[in-house]
Amino acid sequence: MQYVKLDGGEKMSSLRIRGGRRLDGEWTVGCAKNAVLPIMAASILSDDPTTLLDCPNLSDVKYMGDILRTLGSEVEERGHEMRIDPQGISSFEMPDDLAKRIRSSIFMLGPLLSRFRKATVTFPGGCEIGMRPIDLHLAGLRQLGVQVREEGGMVYCDGSGMRCGSVHFDYPSVGATENAMMAAVTLRGKTYLHNVAREPEIMDLQYFINAMGGKVSGAGTNTICVEGVTSLRGAVYRPMPDRIVAGTLLAAAAITGGYIRLNNAPCKDMLAIFSKLQEMDCVIGEKNTVVTLHAPKRLRAFPQLQTQPHPGFPTDMQVQMLTLATLAKGTSIVVENVFENRFTHAGDLNRMGANVVVNGRMAIVQGVDALYGTKVQARDLRGGAALAIAGLQAHGETIVDQAHFIDRGYDHLEDMLSALGADIHRE
Ligand code: UD1
Repeated sequence: MQYVKLDGGEKMSSLRIRGGRRLDGEWTVGCAKNAVLPIMAASILSDDPTTLLDCPNLSDVKYMGDILRTLGSEVEERGHEMRIDPQGISSFEMPDDLAKRIRSSIFMLGPLLSRFRKATVTFPGGCEIGMRPIDLHLAGLRQLGVQVREEGGMVYCDGSGMRCGSVHFDYPSVGATENAMMAAVTLRGKTYLHNVAREPEIMDLQYFINAMGGKVSGAGTNTICVEGVTSLRGAVYRPMPDRIVAGTLLAAAAITGGYIRLNNAPCKDMLAIFSKLQEMDCVIGEKNTVVTLHAPKRLRAFPQLQTQPHPGFPTDMQVQMLTLATLAKGTSIVVENVFENRFTHAGDLNRMGANVVVNGRMAIVQGVDALYGTKVQARDLRGGAALAIAGLQAHGETIVDQAHFIDRGYDHLEDMLSALGADIHRE
């Protein structure tokens, strides 16, 4: 297939996979998209340049860079190093087209408010995995004294009356927690954020803000304390490794009955994933930042997988595990509690020969003996990766169309999988 420019500037491409190769190899995990994006947003809390090391080459990271540029920042990418110089930022209005393209644009709200005490954003876009409203983000900011006006698809925030205080979230939203943290960094006094999300990427944001001279503590627990500082400086920072990329590669090795060794894996943040893979009879070895997986000849079904906020099972690994269950011995049940629309790939898996029945937020997966390659379509980031995983063990050839969805969160998934022995390439 020819490369075709899509509206968003992505190139239309497909992954072609010839199934049946047992994976056996080693990979070093790169930095986490979900850590890098809020950190890029936080870089504008200072006027000094920030350098991010080992930045992954992802379309979401590129869009975030474009957003920073449009606001007036200089963003320079040299290989995997990104230098952000926010000194020239002069606008507090988020570019409409970019904001619609990437949900993480919403992360700019907190830093813009911190910098200008004003911010204007369009309702954000992103993968179609659920409604993904921003009410929790706005509720957090309102509790910090921000006046919010929603009008004609736009959100106008006036932070002239912002003050430190206490914020309570009705639900531990990852993005809303990060936004409130960034908004509170320069407020005089102490701000306490209660019932916050405990995802490891929030701890990474805390480390980054503190490397800039901020005073944030408590990330990783359900209360975060932000002690206001008058100014921040730039930092040189290497974001944490990607637990979802690591989990996806483990799943890829597992479906082929293979072996994998991952270096630079955030093992302590992956316990829920390890334990599910162990339930499927995979043997996991872990030491510091190295994890190994030996898969059995045939995986065993897991009785139940329920997604939850961290430290529960991550929703971003749900569809990859569901894909493993399609070939496991027995019946697996998957309950998606975080997003309401995350079984969109069940139809494609069934076209490959799987037996998945979806009922609302629950999927019942009856393991089958074989999957068969066909043409399927990525509809979101993780679902696209899951179809590629299915293709690894399917008979014949699988073509995953719309691979640009996968590129939002995997820095060339085909390179990772072929380094492990898969027959996969992009066209
Ligand atoms: C982040 C991750 C995403 C992951 C998700 C849950 C990034 C860039 N993305 O997304 O990969 O899948 O956490 O672990 O870090 N919600 C509301 N109102 C809001 C905000 C969220 O109702 O204002 C709902 C969402 O629709 C969803 C749930 O809360 O049902 C969880 O969302 P949230 O934790 O905010 O996820 P994100 O920050 O969008």
